[in-house]
Amino acid sequence: MSVLVTGGAGYIGSHVVRLLQQRGEQVVVVDDLSNGRAARVGDATVVEVDLATDAAAPALADAFATHGVDAVVHFAARKQVGESVARPAHYWSQNVGGMANLLQAMETAGVGKLVFSSSAATYGAPQSAVVREDGPAEPINPYGQTKLVGEWMSRAAGVAWGLRAANLRYFNVAGAGWDDLGDSAVMNLIPIVFTALDAGEVPTVFGGDYPTPDGSCIRDYVHVLDLARAHLAALDHLGTEERPFDTFNVGSGAGSSVFEVLEVIRRVTGVDVAPDVRERRAGDPPQLVADVSRITSTLGWSTTKDLDDIVGSAWAAWKTNR
Ligand code: WQD
Repeated sequence: MSVLVTGGAGYIGSHVVRLLQQRGEQVVVVDDLSNGRAARVGDATVVEVDLATDAAAPALADAFATHGVDAVVHFAARKQVGESVARPAHYWSQNVGGMANLLQAMETAGVGKLVFSSSAATYGAPQSAVVREDGPAEPINPYGQTKLVGEWMSRAAGVAWGLRAANLRYFNVAGAGWDDLGDSAVMNLIPIVFTALDAGEVPTVFGGDYPTPDGSCIRDYVHVLDLARAHLAALDHLGTEERPFDTFNVGSGAGSSVFEVLEVIRRVTGVDVAPDVRERRAGDPPQLVADVSRITSTLGWSTTKDLDDIVGSAWAAWKTNR
């Protein structure tokens, strides 16, 4: 199989690239290298282009033809919730515009399989603690909205010209499959706490008065290598299944509170610092955990790594790269 991976030089994309390479697939990466690093993708060809620009169509057409591409895994997107609130038009233009250019190029070239990087942010602030794919999807920020629209676009392409698509809704992704592929951006809880510990500062807990057992927010943490495996399972599924469109939660199915994550970080790093419990952060749902029955029954996928593995591998990669 020949697979084109957009955003393949990024944190999650590079894990998928490496797994595909290990399986002997041909991989071509399309990345604007704004956050990605070419060193992450080994000997895969890197086509440097921003999918939301006019340069995307000819670059994709050339890559599809040159590499005989059978399928696309689409990561390339902006992914900061706060930035999306401040610059909504930029997010619509980058994420939705990039997806539109990609789908148009796939249709023109006859590339009929897509795995799309969606997000638990499509759920917004759900009423139920455990969310199912067939439940309400009401995103509360432009980032989540662009991801939900991306799902709609892939469905519409299926109706219009037969695209087969799997949308993967990621929960809280962390950890590293290899030390050189760690998350170098400091945007989520675990790298934020590592940065604080490195600087001799006290980590912050946003809200200790939530209606949860210890008062802090509960999230579903998934190891990036397990998540990457889900993409390969989805690609294989698109090759065999009749169902042309599907959406899957990718999480562990279990929740961990912020205090529980901090306790694992304390154990793994050996740094014992009492956190500063502050005000709630705007827009944080108390609890967001995946119902994983659909991905388990349809793709035969489930997590193999727990929170200790996630924090341990994240810390090992962090130490190598700081
Ligand atoms: C996790 C928990 C914070 C920092 C975000 C996006 C979501 C998805 C994953 C892409 C929350 C708490 C955090 C800190 C804290 N991204 N926290 N102190 O908000 O669950 O999800 O990333 O698809 O769309 O919204 O992740 O890592 O920011 O926070 O107490 O210094 O840690 O309040 O409960 P979040 P996060």
